[in-house]
Amino acid sequence: MKKIIILSGAGMSAESGVKTFRDSDGLWNNYRFEEVASPIAWERDPDLVLEFYNQRRKQLFEVEPNDAHKALVRLESKYDVQIITQNVDDLHERAGSKNVLHLHGELKKARSTADESLVYTLDHWELKRGDLCEKGSQLRPHIVWFGESVPNISLAASIASEADIFIVIGTSLFVYPAASLVHYVSEDVPKYLVDPKADLNNVRNLTTIKKKAGEAIPELVEELLNQS
Ligand code: APR
Repeated sequence: MKKIIILSGAGMSAESGVKTFRDSDGLWNNYRFEEVASPIAWERDPDLVLEFYNQRRKQLFEVEPNDAHKALVRLESKYDVQIITQNVDDLHERAGSKNVLHLHGELKKARSTADESLVYTLDHWELKRGDLCEKGSQLRPHIVWFGESVPNISLAASIASEADIFIVIGTSLFVYPAASLVHYVSEDVPKYLVDPKADLNNVRNLTTIKKKAGEAIPELVEELLNQS
């Protein structure tokens, strides 16, 4: 089976009602990421950080996968599909995608501040001060904050290098190292970029689709299923 590797960003979940970061109504228009998504922020005001992620987690329990998430699942009938996502939501998984690698963490998980190998799945939206790990230390959001390393990036790079087809969906390609993944894909491999504001140059064998994911991905999936 041919390998299709997907790199998704916030635009993938926009039509589910999840805010992106850098669109006009994006999260970073209402918050400074230094105040809610960095180790310094956590030291300075852990309650503000917990509240920022609680609000996003609360919404996640109320939204559903959209047509783009669901279309990617259909690809699995004829391709070996691996999703690499910058998103911390679980919409790919809830749509039924089997192979999802999170680069920036997962909103529905929390981890120990004393031992980062202790990761817990949350079945409720609120994570509070006093919610402790089994070693008695405060739990924090299981999110890669600005300034922290991206543990899964080398695995993601090796996955990208194996792509027979590479599809980038709904990301401004603004944040590294995630944005560098497209350069691990062989030059002769067909690549697709789906984003209404797509603007990517100096990448060979690239087809740009300036549409929303909810419209473009079902069409692209149909085309790829007919090709195989
Ligand atoms: N369909 C497809 N693309 C869309 C849609 C849509 N319906 N709506 C918006 N987009 C596009 C925007 O044009 C933009 O290029 O999605 C992209 C969203 O970009 P960002 O808001 O920067 O989100 P993302 O690229 O995922 O951010 C990367 O930055 O803040 C950090 O850790 C955070 O993972 C995040 C990372």
